[in-house]
Amino acid sequence: MKREQWGSRFGFIMAAAGSAVGLGNIWKFPYLAGTQGGGAFLAVYLIIMATIGAALIMAEIAIGRSAKKNPVGAFRALGGNLWSTTGVIGVVTGFMILSFYSVVGGWTIAYLVKSVAGTIESAQPELLEAQFGGLVSAVWEPIFYHGVFMVLTMGIVIAGVAQGIERSVKVLMPLLFILLMVLVVRSVTLPGAWEGIEFFLVPDWSQVNGEMLRAALGQAFFSLSLGMGAMITYGSYLDKDADIPNASCWVVFLAALVGVLGGLLVLPAVFAFGMDPGAGPGLTFITLPAVFGEMIGGYVFQIIFFAMLLIAALTSSISLLAIPVAYFAEEYGIERKWSAIVVGILIFLIGVPCSLALGVWGEYKLFGMNFFDLMVYAVDNYTLPIGGILTSLFAGWIVLEKMGKELSNDGSLNFKWMAAFTWIMRIVAPLAVVWVMLSGLLGS
Ligand code: PHE
Repeated sequence: MKREQWGSRFGFIMAAAGSAVGLGNIWKFPYLAGTQGGGAFLAVYLIIMATIGAALIMAEIAIGRSAKKNPVGAFRALGGNLWSTTGVIGVVTGFMILSFYSVVGGWTIAYLVKSVAGTIESAQPELLEAQFGGLVSAVWEPIFYHGVFMVLTMGIVIAGVAQGIERSVKVLMPLLFILLMVLVVRSVTLPGAWEGIEFFLVPDWSQVNGEMLRAALGQAFFSLSLGMGAMITYGSYLDKDADIPNASCWVVFLAALVGVLGGLLVLPAVFAFGMDPGAGPGLTFITLPAVFGEMIGGYVFQIIFFAMLLIAALTSSISLLAIPVAYFAEEYGIERKWSAIVVGILIFLIGVPCSLALGVWGEYKLFGMNFFDLMVYAVDNYTLPIGGILTSLFAGWIVLEKMGKELSNDGSLNFKWMAAFTWIMRIVAPLAVVWVMLSGLLGS
């Protein structure tokens, strides 16, 4: 069977940017910036994105394109059996991320539905908090929406790489930008928005500390979908003439841009209405609806907001599902459609205890964490960083020349930034991640 391919360069960039831009940029980034000191966090995040992030995304896409296989097959083809474990970590991580990501994706559907129905208690912050708490801790409602989210994700992936993924992202991503721009313009023109803009854009360097650097590095990895094979998988469908460095820079740029716009959407509005920017994970589901409740036209803006959040989540979840689907399809010869259905159902099932952990199963704890937090913790602190270290060591020490050729495109070794790429892959990225992991473990 002929391997599928992206139909166009634009399609690939939209798909990869769609994977990168997600709940991580719009839900997590603004609240991290809110709790980690605003402008300084943004600056550190952007520097990491432009260096380690850009180099690693090029490496992953190049690994995928060079082997034209799923992450396990790709590492095995290029580096042998031992290295294929790196791909296995990626496939497992894809499972883990999608199981909790889809639960949060389900919340966005629930909020979109409630926004349209006009049943979000936007006028009263205390009720909003109770409403959000009530949703996530309920039994059936969040599981139902988690299921709806998985069905949407599976539907797109089943339709195929070009016919499903590419076709949908080509519409959804531009739509996401338009919706986001509408909201940003509204937010920054609110009376009193300036304080929030300043908080977010003007760095206060005294805020830089170990915890913040860790958060910024982790966020850069997560928001570029790195360290777990998503970009390897997407890269494997890229044709051999595509310019990888150029496409990678676009993806980094778009992901960073949406993070910045996400911050500019959330923080000025939060300041303008005198709310707390350090509210944490509830910022988008509790604080923002409170803002919409006080805003003229808030009903419409709220619908736009949750629709945008859902689009961002979906274009990422399809890239997560695409990894194990490619793996089972290629390694075990299971038809793509069945692979997507079986894997999708499995992920749905793992998501169920994630969702219940925020309510009735909250008392079951391992290492002091409920199942949801445990999954997030394991991914953030272990599987993604380890996957990232192994991938960069692999690119830098084992297949460097191949990488160089992929990045140069014409088979020569004339990639302009080869020296910087080599340094980052061999030394800078692995050391940075090891430092982050160790300092996290030692709790400093
Ligand atoms: N990058 C996505 C986000 O920011 C999350 C993601 C991680 C998607 C890893 C795919 C792979 O929300």
